[in-house]
Amino acid sequence: MHAYIHVSVSTCIRTCIRTDVRTNIRNSTRTDANIQGGETHRNVAQVLSRTKDRRDDSKHHKVRRGSHINQSSQGCQGRRNATKPPKVNSQTPTVYNMTTIQNVAIAGASGDLGKPILEALIAAKTFNVTILSRKSSTATFPDPVKVVHVDYSSVEDITAALQGQDAVVSALTTVAMEVQLPLIEACIAAGVKRFIPSEFSADIDNPKSSTLPVYQPKIAVHKALKARAEAHPGFTYTLIRNGVLLDWIMAQGFILAFDSESPPLFDGGDRPFSVTNVASVGKAVVGALQHLAETSNRVIYVHDLVITQNQVLTIARKLAPQRTWKPVVVKTEELEAQSRENYAKGNITLHSSLGFLIRAAFGEGYGGEFQHVDNELIGMGFQTEADLEKMVDAALHHALVPGS
Ligand SMILES: NC(=O)c1ccc[n+]([C@@H]2O[C@H](COP(=O)([O-])OP(=O)(O)OC[C@H]3O[C@@H](n4cnc5c(N)ncnc54)[C@H](OP(=O)(O)O)[C@@H]3O)[C@@H](O)[C@H]2O)c1
Repeated sequence: MHAYIHVSVSTCIRTCIRTDVRTNIRNSTRTDANIQGGETHRNVAQVLSRTKDRRDDSKHHKVRRGSHINQSSQGCQGRRNATKPPKVNSQTPTVYNMTTIQNVAIAGASGDLGKPILEALIAAKTFNVTILSRKSSTATFPDPVKVVHVDYSSVEDITAALQGQDAVVSALTTVAMEVQLPLIEACIAAGVKRFIPSEFSADIDNPKSSTLPVYQPKIAVHKALKARAEAHPGFTYTLIRNGVLLDWIMAQGFILAFDSESPPLFDGGDRPFSVTNVASVGKAVVGALQHLAETSNRVIYVHDLVITQNQVLTIARKLAPQRTWKPVVVKTEELEAQSRENYAKGNITLHSSLGFLIRAAFGEGYGGEFQHVDNELIGMGFQTEADLEKMVDAALHHALVPGS
């Protein structure tokens, strides 16, 4: 197994942010020119490098209620032009006689995405929730949720922990993608009916995105799930794809690096891409568990809205007219090529994977904008440009707390 399976998106960005931000900004003398070669990757990493500081800062702010994004049921009005309604995915199966889900175990509930998923499961008030956590974990959880510490390398241990569970949701870090293989076996052994793996990603089935090395561990999990579900009809799965986690990533200054004078615009910043807030991913998980038959053995695509970087920049300029951002155009093709070069040289690190992740979200033909979404299928609404504006406002003032 390659080392890149030990890379998580969040850790990746957290790692990048360890660079001295102020030095990076001081060093950045480029304004609106395309940047080339190694310089391109460095510039993106420099912009991303501020994010830990911002992330830490944000923890010192109280949760800003104004930054909470309410779900809207007005169709896909949050799309860039607010005109085209989303197409509903047509893969809905016709069998509707599955049992309902009562007992749900969640793995990785202490993570960036696991926390809001846990909150959504609890808020649904229809599930008995159990948390699976590593024996070595120091994470703490809200009372009175039951916590079972497991050894993810032992199918027997996990199987014992999963007795009586109807569903298992995994929000494990990318570091643990391969850990999901024994977890799947334990689900089957314990009679779990539905497994939702730690997917929560771009469109990995897209022919171009599927070639990106960073996604291969998730693709290996898909293959295992398909094979195991075919062999064990009582065991089913749902893959949830949500595009870019908007509030999480915007709080870190990624979609628009508000603190930078020269934020990167990937391929010019006009390419639409699907985004979802972390709280909405929690709702998608609940929706999938509440629509068991419709979401059986398939991928569901959800998004809150479709945006472009330039749309966010326009909103930011309206909200902060005193700021004079001079964005830098960065080519995602070059970022992908650099990441491939890094991998070919055996330089498989968190930082070296960034080009792949950016390429999947922003690259032309990589499926960053979902063409079919399943929001309606699972009873999930959409968001609007007004919601986006509230979030940009919060991000500008370092008051955006993902999931709040
Ligand atoms: N689409 C996007 O923009 C986007 C952005 C970020 C993440 N994601 C995806 O969301 C999922 C969750 O990512 P995340 O950033 O929320 O994860 P995370 O915070 O890095 O980690 C989640 C949890 O995984 C458990 N864990 C950590 N290392 C482990 C190991 N070696 N073995 C087993 N468990 C381990 C920990 O829980 P315990 O301590 O309780 O055991 C940890 O809290 C991933 O699939 C990731 O790719 C997508």
